[in-house]
Amino acid sequence: MPADEPLFPGIRACVFDAYGTLFDTSSAAERLRSRLDDRADALSAAWRTKQLEYTWLMSLMGRHVDFMAVTSWALDFALEQTGITADAQLRADLMDQYRVLDAYPDARGTLETLKKAGIATAILSNGSPEMLRSATVTARIGTLLDYVLSVESVGIFKPHPRVYQLAVERLGVVRRQICFVSSNGWDVAGAACFGFPVLWVNRTGRTAERLPTGPSATRPDLKSLPELIGLS
Ligand code: LAC
Repeated sequence: MPADEPLFPGIRACVFDAYGTLFDTSSAAERLRSRLDDRADALSAAWRTKQLEYTWLMSLMGRHVDFMAVTSWALDFALEQTGITADAQLRADLMDQYRVLDAYPDARGTLETLKKAGIATAILSNGSPEMLRSATVTARIGTLLDYVLSVESVGIFKPHPRVYQLAVERLGVVRRQICFVSSNGWDVAGAACFGFPVLWVNRTGRTAERLPTGPSATRPDLKSLPELIGLS
């Protein structure tokens, strides 16, 4: 391979996972830290883990509710597990935070660079359309995204292949020309299994999954994405 050949050649679109990749899910509990004693981190971790487990379980059971419902169930579980007694107001405030998550500091700049270069940009997320709309507006990245795609269009959560197919259909770009970007190992495996070239953004030094499909490249953040697809 010539030295100047990008690791991801021929890419026409970048499709991003939302939570944990563009949006910092820990910011929900972080903003309310003073009301959670010293348990904000434990709550945040338990909430996220249970939220994801419930998506996989619902998909396997052939049932579907939207991500807001799953997030709400997971919050109740996580509150009890971490021993936090939350009144209705604290619970409502925690759920509301999920609509106004912070974007990671590298999200906006990376999307701007891609847009300027004419690369199509999209979110493909388990989030419901309303959650995604509100989070993209709050994080001021809405105008930098050509598409915000929710699994609600197909009625099953990631990593079901129907979800990844939605991106191919809506963007009108073949899968090998779509760079899929996710911080979630299970999502990376699902997207790679579908046939996308995948960048794993391993923001927190997580252990790599042991699954048959995996990322084409791993980086600690989004900053090197333009270079990986040959923009600089
Ligand atoms: C997403 C979550 C699961 O689909 O990270 O955005």
